Amino acid sequence: MESKAFKQHLLQELYAPFKNCTQCPLGTLGRTNIVWGEGDPDASLMLIGEGPGADEDAQGRPFVGRSGKLLTKTIEGLGIKREEVFIANIVKCRPPGNRAPTTLESSICMTLFLFNQIKIVRPKIICTLGNSPLQALLGADMKITKTRGTVQDWQGFKLIPTYHPAYILRNPPALKTFVADLAFVIEQLAAS
Ligand code: URA
Repeated sequence: MESKAFKQHLLQELYAPFKNCTQCPLGTLGRTNIVWGEGDPDASLMLIGEGPGADEDAQGRPFVGRSGKLLTKTIEGLGIKREEVFIANIVKCRPPGNRAPTTLESSICMTLFLFNQIKIVRPKIICTLGNSPLQALLGADMKITKTRGTVQDWQGFKLIPTYHPAYILRNPPALKTFVADLAFVIEQLAAS
């Protein structure tokens, strides 16, 4: 069993050759910082979003803007500290104008980084936030409205989709469902 320190070392080794990554178009489209992800390298829960926004690009950290504040407040309200989880995105560089990453950008970036992050951290549960990470991991035919709050499988890992916090900011009535889905994730963690 790898220790936390060894997993941290493996993550650093994964990122080190790509400090100025231009493996996909997003590397040349005006990003400020690469947002690798952050949190406990030995976390039992991994949260996966779509890609950095303006605040994340400026700070080099995932989910630090308005959506991130809602996400942090929601998990902390359910008794899980932000530092206890690992937070990552499908793409590590901000798509210009906050557009969605293309299939090419997502597949290059996931193959290089996210798949390896998952295999290093080996979380008990992956929770995808919104349609984009759900479809990038499980296929374009997956629908958040049908699958949210259910246990899916990604390469032997339990994956539970829920809404993206940006959707909750636009649709406050969905907050109840978002909280219930994250409570279910935590219940599943306890049972795993
Ligand atoms: N939205 C995401 O999908 N990821 C972030 O890191 C921030 C906002």
